[in-house]
Amino acid sequence: MRSLIDIAELSLSEIDSLLNTANDIIENPAKYAEKCKGKKLATLFFEPSTRTRLSFEAAMYELGGNVLGFSEAQSSSSAKGESVADTAKTVSCYADIIAMRHPKEGAPLVASMNATVPVINAGDGGHNHPTQTLADLLTIKREKGGFDNLTVGFCGDLKFGRTVHSLITALRRYNNVKFIFISPNELRVPEYIRESLKQDNFEVFETTDLEAVMADLDVLYMTRVQRERFFNEEEYLRLKDSYILTPEKLETAKQSLSVMHPLPRVNEISVAIDSDPRACYFKQVLNGKYMRMALILMLLEVK
Ligand code: NCD
Repeated sequence: MRSLIDIAELSLSEIDSLLNTANDIIENPAKYAEKCKGKKLATLFFEPSTRTRLSFEAAMYELGGNVLGFSEAQSSSSAKGESVADTAKTVSCYADIIAMRHPKEGAPLVASMNATVPVINAGDGGHNHPTQTLADLLTIKREKGGFDNLTVGFCGDLKFGRTVHSLITALRRYNNVKFIFISPNELRVPEYIRESLKQDNFEVFETTDLEAVMADLDVLYMTRVQRERFFNEEEYLRLKDSYILTPEKLETAKQSLSVMHPLPRVNEISVAIDSDPRACYFKQVLNGKYMRMALILMLLEVK
């Protein structure tokens, strides 16, 4: 039995096979409509979510399975003081697979060590978000044809943005990927990630100036400033409008650029960009559902 806590747990060939399954689901949805008949997914969400939770639920329904769970910590026994370990043991009695989001880094890992069914990390604090990365990878694959030789700009809150951390982990395994990190000084990519990239001889290019690097980018991954992870509101208010992508700022960008965002968006991408063919963020949402379907099939070992 296998869980998915960190995207690095998947080999490149497993990622490839998930991408292929997702593409096959897109082309032949009827083939998959009963694959998880009689199976149950539990969504244990201790933190707010629209996309990730509904995406997991839609994924399980489209596989013919059922869903149970909760969407806020207050309505679960954790409000009474139950540990994540006990919740995981309990839910294992009801469900065949668990998707868990938690504000504490490492909580889904603890759950996976105590559950008797697979656990999927649906976002743990400011740490990781592997299934958003699967959505991002399918989007990049479909837009760009592959991952090698891409110049990828990450912009915004690179410190607390867990989707950024997981996507870097995934992309660094492909050939000749260049990373450009665009953030205010206070929200730089965590040092452990920068150091490990440097150790592996990646050129790590950091800047505070989005427009200065715009023309170089094949992918621009925008992110929201993660208000809920700040220790003080003043600091958030000072940093929240650091980057706002507008049509003017895209003038120097490549025609082939893919603008991505894990969503939710606050104001960091102007809605005027939504109709630009380079905008990919709503495609990411749809791709996320297909990749979660592929992942559920893999972890439940459904043929
Ligand atoms: C992201 C998350 O929860 O980390 N949202 C998502 O799952 N698509 C990004 C965010 O909240 O900013």
